Amino acid sequence: MYYPDELVEEVRQRSDIVDVISSYVRLTRRGSNYFGLCPFHNEKTGSFSVTPSKQMFYCFGCHEGGNVISFIQKYENATFQEAVKILADRAGMALPESTDATARERENRRAQLLAINKEAAKYYYAQLRSDSGKRGMEYLIGRGLSDETMQRFGLGFARSTRDETYRYLKSKGYPDDLLRESGLFSFREDRGMTDKFWNRVIFPIMDVGQRVIGFGGRVMGDGEPKYLNSPETPIFDKSRNLYGLNIAKSSKAKNIIICEGYMDVISLHQAGFDQAVASLGTAFTSGHANLIARYAKVNVRQGEIQRYKDILLCYDSDGAGVDAAKRALSILSEAGLRAKVIDMRPYKDPDEFIKGLGAEEFQKRIDDAENGFMYEIRMLEGEYDMKDPSGKSSFITDVATRLLRFEDPVERDNYVGLVSYKYDVSAESVNEVIKKQALAGTGVTIKPRPISTRNGKNDMIEAASLPQTRLLSWLCDEPAIYKVVNRYITADDFADPLYREVAAILFEQLEKGHCDPADIISVFPEEEQQRRIAEAFHQSIGDLESLAMKEMALRDLMINIKQLSLTRNDRSDSDFGYIIKIRGELEELKRVKIDLQDIDRSTAFSQKEE
Ligand code: GTP
Ligand code: MN
Repeated sequence: MYYPDELVEEVRQRSDIVDVISSYVRLTRRGSNYFGLCPFHNEKTGSFSVTPSKQMFYCFGCHEGGNVISFIQKYENATFQEAVKILADRAGMALPESTDATARERENRRAQLLAINKEAAKYYYAQLRSDSGKRGMEYLIGRGLSDETMQRFGLGFARSTRDETYRYLKSKGYPDDLLRESGLFSFREDRGMTDKFWNRVIFPIMDVGQRVIGFGGRVMGDGEPKYLNSPETPIFDKSRNLYGLNIAKSSKAKNIIICEGYMDVISLHQAGFDQAVASLGTAFTSGHANLIARYAKVNVRQGEIQRYKDILLCYDSDGAGVDAAKRALSILSEAGLRAKVIDMRPYKDPDEFIKGLGAEEFQKRIDDAENGFMYEIRMLEGEYDMKDPSGKSSFITDVATRLLRFEDPVERDNYVGLVSYKYDVSAESVNEVIKKQALAGTGVTIKPRPISTRNGKNDMIEAASLPQTRLLSWLCDEPAIYKVVNRYITADDFADPLYREVAAILFEQLEKGHCDPADIISVFPEEEQQRRIAEAFHQSIGDLESLAMKEMALRDLMINIKQLSLTRNDRSDSDFGYIIKIRGELEELKRVKIDLQDIDRSTAFSQKEE
């Protein structure tokens, strides 16, 4: 549909950009502009601006920008014409039926091609259920599909005839040129039109609007090619459609599963995982990522953060599958989406996994899906000699380069923590390499330091114990701050094993409303322990004159302790969930404002009053 310029202009003028974008993004006014979280990349601070005076939007983070029409195009994954239509509908404007003859003709052909596909799908479907479709039916039953599943996916069968499908559709009155464009037939001067699909089971491919846009056909048993797919046509754009999304889009599941093949999707749906989709035969594209972004979006907003369903990749376990997963991860990441990877081993693909171990085990694999970035670097490990220090160092450099991709410092920090933890490298070293990589090519250099292990250095231990002992001292001097400390720090956060034990006892005392450091010392029999504990309880917290300074100091102290908590290497290696939890708490600490006002007044050193 082609709309004349004046009409487009009128639609634009009747669609106030703030008004329109507000229905997609929560905007807050700041001066003469509005700000919100950018819907086009993943961010936690609002760099997305809308300027009413200019009727434009612009994101300072990802540099996406445009007017109200381009916003709709991008957000709704729509063409220009579709966007104009959406806005016109919204503004209550009636658009004229097509005025442009060629555009009208194009629309008409698309409608006809859809009708042909629908007719063909019905034909194949009926064949499967007829006598001549017996082999197809046996094959599908042999692959474990129930009748209900076959119906849900509209599976069909193409007989081994030369041109029966063609003649059938011809009899329905479709002209040859359209039938040729449908991709369902081959044409050769000497043979005329012949059926493209014959002696195959048929998988109709539907778009999200349940319209049949193409077909896949599989040989029954061995044979080449195993799958035959419709070519791209005016209605079939492989890079913008996902098999199964017509059903998965209404799934109640908390995640969306991307796999490789028709049979994977169908098996998963049959096993109750109606959130599975597949990119068909083609590699995963940014068009697919956009579709996922659109349908994985969760409609409630948690605070200010746009939430997505978990995106899970479930590719084949072989080398090709791993490569495909890595590529898909990077394409998703460019679209601002984070994904996890499901491990199917020892099975090849989800279809075989379900057959072998069943739905319950599959659900466990979903729950255990590995963070996409950690998956990527685990795969990278194989390319380095991790036992050789210089091999490991090159590996860390490679990882650091990849960490640079995360623009959000908090997110990057999370991964630095994970990498540091998993590969026993100090976070400082990782950050230093990242910085070096970031500066590479800019002419700025930083002096290299040997990569140190997390707990390898004595002066690091010194630096590490200070915040811990300071907090212990402070708590004894001023037990009232426990109310605040308790909110963020647990005894378990103390990295040093001795201080951890001390903290546990102290916290228990404070919980009961008293504080007796001397009593704590007596719990530890060894002299050296007692010495260290006494020392710990006699740390100066410095001269903190104002309340504000105190609040800041306490917060910094708690942040330090939380960071140290991450370096604890005595937690079980598989326990990443723990690290992520602590990272979250750390993030929170970095955000909160500590308020000591109330407790400061009410208790003024209650210890002495006891
Ligand atoms: P089954 O053997 O039926 O279980 O299929 P599969 O999904 O296990 O097969 P595979 O992993 O080999 O292929 C995954 C997907 O790639 C298929 O669903 C097809 O979409 C596509 N594909 C596989 N083989 C071919 C082929 O020979 N040609 C084309 N065009 N696509 C194929
Ligand atoms: Mn398979």
